[in-house]
Amino acid sequence: MRRPVVAANWKMNKTVPEALDLTRDLLAQIQAYTAVERVICPAFVALTTVAPLAAAAGVGLGAQNMHWEKSGAYTGEVSPLMLAGLCQYVIVGHSERRQYFGETDETVNKKARAALLNGLTPIICVGEVLAENEAGRTAEVVIRQTRAAYAGLSAEEALKTIVAYEPVWAIGTGKAATPAGANAVIGLHIRGALSDLYSSTVADALRVQYGGSVTAANAADLMAQPDIDGALVGGASLKPAEFGAIVRAASARA
Ligand code: PGA
Repeated sequence: MRRPVVAANWKMNKTVPEALDLTRDLLAQIQAYTAVERVICPAFVALTTVAPLAAAAGVGLGAQNMHWEKSGAYTGEVSPLMLAGLCQYVIVGHSERRQYFGETDETVNKKARAALLNGLTPIICVGEVLAENEAGRTAEVVIRQTRAAYAGLSAEEALKTIVAYEPVWAIGTGKAATPAGANAVIGLHIRGALSDLYSSTVADALRVQYGGSVTAANAADLMAQPDIDGALVGGASLKPAEFGAIVRAASARA
């Protein structure tokens, strides 16, 4: 039985005082659903402030990105050593990082490895862009991204990761993938790739979230799919009642 995991990706939103207020409001909505692994991912600058509240509520904390090196001359970057002890998760390979900040399959792999080496759980994002989807290349793209992200990771390490399937055309557009469509990509292609890389046991044990325009209205249908183990939520994670409803929908899986 895979424990559902729902993560809030706030992206580049909220000042530190606003993050504190939003955390309080979100926690009030999600604290009760202990069967669900809940994670809040604010901006780097808010992590220290939010950490004690999340910890007291039994809710996980994550960063939205990091560098793979421990330290060095990388102006503006944040290292896994800085995050370890401050948070427990890190999103790697989000499509916005791939699209706007030069993230590649190779850097996603480096970041996933660095996260694991430093005791952080990477939430590894994969997903096709609209043109790839329309060209019928979804399988090829998510398989390539999955294989690349896990290169060099042992089965034991892979089991400590979470995958987020986020079709890029569904992110922030209000057009979520259909529950059956997302389930098929995850079940056939992402778990398929993991099964080829490791074993069907590993592929079945690993948790895979869906992300892309998840709302209170579509969460129950998405969470009812057998291969969708939770959600990576952007816009709706800034709205406490709505995020609460998404976590509640995930709790129905547990
Ligand atoms: P969205 O973003 O929920 O606003 O579509 C999801 C994500 O980018 O993780």
